[in-house]
Amino acid sequence: MQAERSISAVKARLARARAVTVLTGAGISADSGVPTFRGADGLWRNFRAEDLATPEAFARDPRLVWEWYNWRRELIATKSPNPAHYVLADLERRLERFWLITQNVDGLHRAAGSQQLSEIHGNIWKVRCTRCGRVDENRTVPIAILPSCTACNGLLRPHIVWFGESLATEDLDRSYEALRRCEVLLIIGTSGVVYPAASFAPVAKAAGAFVVEINLDATPNTEVVDVSLQGRAKEVVPELLS
Ligand code: APR
Repeated sequence: MQAERSISAVKARLARARAVTVLTGAGISADSGVPTFRGADGLWRNFRAEDLATPEAFARDPRLVWEWYNWRRELIATKSPNPAHYVLADLERRLERFWLITQNVDGLHRAAGSQQLSEIHGNIWKVRCTRCGRVDENRTVPIAILPSCTACNGLLRPHIVWFGESLATEDLDRSYEALRRCEVLLIIGTSGVVYPAASFAPVAKAAGAFVVEINLDATPNTEVVDVSLQGRAKEVVPELLS
């Protein structure tokens, strides 16, 4: 009953909102079969993401880091967007102002048709040269280990923001602007422990937005948001936007 009332309240807010911002994390892609980072299936050969997704790990053992990315690229290549990804792409087309901030690097939002988005942690289908900085799309699966730059032969790395690295200024600026000007912020499937995204809910709240969380579990954001809906992204998000 309480949950139904909450869902109706969120639907009503969304129905009259002209500016909506959405923040997504690994939970939305979990419904497409992509393992989350902090879930039970997030380990690879007993390494955690924090052990591999760092510049130090890459400097120490680029082969190991690339093997992990090869595993993830092979897995993600077989996955498709789910209904939650598709309804967010529809929402973007219906609204005057919409911005999607995703921490996911899998490219599933773009595959679903989203265009107004910042992939703040990068994209697993892009590579960057550690010598000349050139960025290219690369969808080869499996990628040759170790991959090298076609322009200068330097070592390529995934075009991903690793722990300890800064987000692109443009992505941050666009994200904060979208957080400050939205009427509704939807936070979908993120554990809310990795910064800066972990600080986005209070920013939107302080600017007057109605903030909604959709997650299987409680998170640090649960305390901050106006409504927290427990459930699977692929079920709850389409229900909110139907
Ligand atoms: N529907 C909704 N939420 C879900 C679902 C689902 N089907 N499945 C899992 N979740 C929730 C979990 O309860 C958890 O809160 O999704 C969240 C996933 O959390 P993480 O694995 O920590 O992923 P995320 O928050 O995206 O991680 C942030 O950390 O490792 C880095 O750079 C990486 O972008 C990543 C960042």
